[in-house]
Amino acid sequence: MKKYFIYTYGCQMNVHETEKLAGILEEKGYSKAENATDADIIVFNTCCIRESAEQKILGNIGAIKPIKKAKKDLIVAVCGCMAQQKDMAATLRKKFPFINIVFGANNIEYFGEYLDTYLSQRKFLNKVEADKQYSENIASVSCVRDNALYAYVNIMYGCNNFCTYCIVPYVRGREKSRAPEAIYQEVKNLLAMGYKVITLLGQNVNSYGLDGNTDGTNFAKLLETIANFDGDFELRFMTSHPKDLSDEVIEVMAKCPKISKTLHLPVQAGSNKTLKAMNRSYTKEAYLNLIEKIREKMPEITLSTDIIVGFPGETDEDYQQTVDLIKQVRYHNAFIFMYSKRKGTIAEKMENQVPIAVKRERIHNLLEIQHEISEQLFKEMIGKTIRVLLDTENTKEYIGKAQCGKVVKIAKEKPLKVGNFYDIDIIEYNKGNLIGRIN
Ligand code: SAH
Ligand code: SF4
Ligand code: F3S
Repeated sequence: MKKYFIYTYGCQMNVHETEKLAGILEEKGYSKAENATDADIIVFNTCCIRESAEQKILGNIGAIKPIKKAKKDLIVAVCGCMAQQKDMAATLRKKFPFINIVFGANNIEYFGEYLDTYLSQRKFLNKVEADKQYSENIASVSCVRDNALYAYVNIMYGCNNFCTYCIVPYVRGREKSRAPEAIYQEVKNLLAMGYKVITLLGQNVNSYGLDGNTDGTNFAKLLETIANFDGDFELRFMTSHPKDLSDEVIEVMAKCPKISKTLHLPVQAGSNKTLKAMNRSYTKEAYLNLIEKIREKMPEITLSTDIIVGFPGETDEDYQQTVDLIKQVRYHNAFIFMYSKRKGTIAEKMENQVPIAVKRERIHNLLEIQHEISEQLFKEMIGKTIRVLLDTENTKEYIGKAQCGKVVKIAKEKPLKVGNFYDIDIIEYNKGNLIGRIN
């Protein structure tokens, strides 16, 4: 039997699209290889959000050269966001002449056809289409899901926001919402198969339906409908853009017990000047008001965020405002990045780029501050009772995840069942893990 190996980079969207690529390959009779060396086809599902991502991918593609040398029939395909960029297919092919197929982020559903064409012609295929938009077909591709308990469900594709630093709208096209009925059906099927945590995916889920592609269903209505489905499960979503997070969504989150009380709400920066230059469409004050409103309705909520340091023009004072904001909000988790120039974006052309040494100092400093806040917040969970899904076990303990994604370990004192939710008393915080006991 022929085997495949897929390298995945980037966000949950890509992780889920890899499940679709795997679905296509398994329908074609391939099975999953344990490692790249054993594969007959290797796929790189790429990301280009930051230069560091691209460098890593280029390094990893280069590293398979010996495999290709040893196995002449090996097929190498590159797809996803990095491949979607203008002229990238040619650049990749020039750098790595052993690449056989390149296709973009928005035509994943045709991978099977590309493979057939390549197998019959054995000629390099460039299937990247400029300005290609998503089609509903992608949703009908069957997935080979990576996990039996946690499942991703796309509710929309693309992004309309054009934050000035970000390449996503250029490589993923405009926002397109999926029909609510199709989403409901997919979620119902997953629940029937025993999935316990459903995560709805979109670059900006709060604008679901605003493109006029649904029957008037907005994100709040979609969430509420799914949260009222039968079964013991939790509903999560990402990502929320602060500018579109409505009172209605907050109400629905607060009143539906099946919606996890956790929210990823990227702020990006604490200075209004920087936020404006980033085209984020909210001020620091509006963001903080939103946080206050969320905490008023859901005091138990855990929050996480994304931050960019060293955006063009960011002064020490601007940076200090990000520090202040992080200290004020106290996120359980923050993903902190150094600004990376992306080709074709508005910020690429901004003149006042911040030197790398300054970016490094800021990220180092902010990571340290955030680490301390996270540690304090997790320590504050000692004595609380939280709902945990057990997802694995070993001889000594059950291992699960809190709603915020934090690992919880429970000593095997009585028999519990992996795949079930339990109310767990948190008794300790040790080396980054919460230690719990069955309530
Ligand atoms: N749609 C989501 C996430 C997009 S990408 C959202 O709007 O929040 C994930 C994160 O990568 C972003 O939130 C941002 O913090 C970061 N990012 C995007 N472009 C970047 C760039 N050019 N340099 C550094 N970080 C970037
Ligand atoms: Fe990028 Fe902004 Fe869209 Fe998020 S909302 S994907 S940061 S342009
Ligand atoms: Fe990367 Fe594309 Fe996601 S650029 S972060 S894989 S949308």
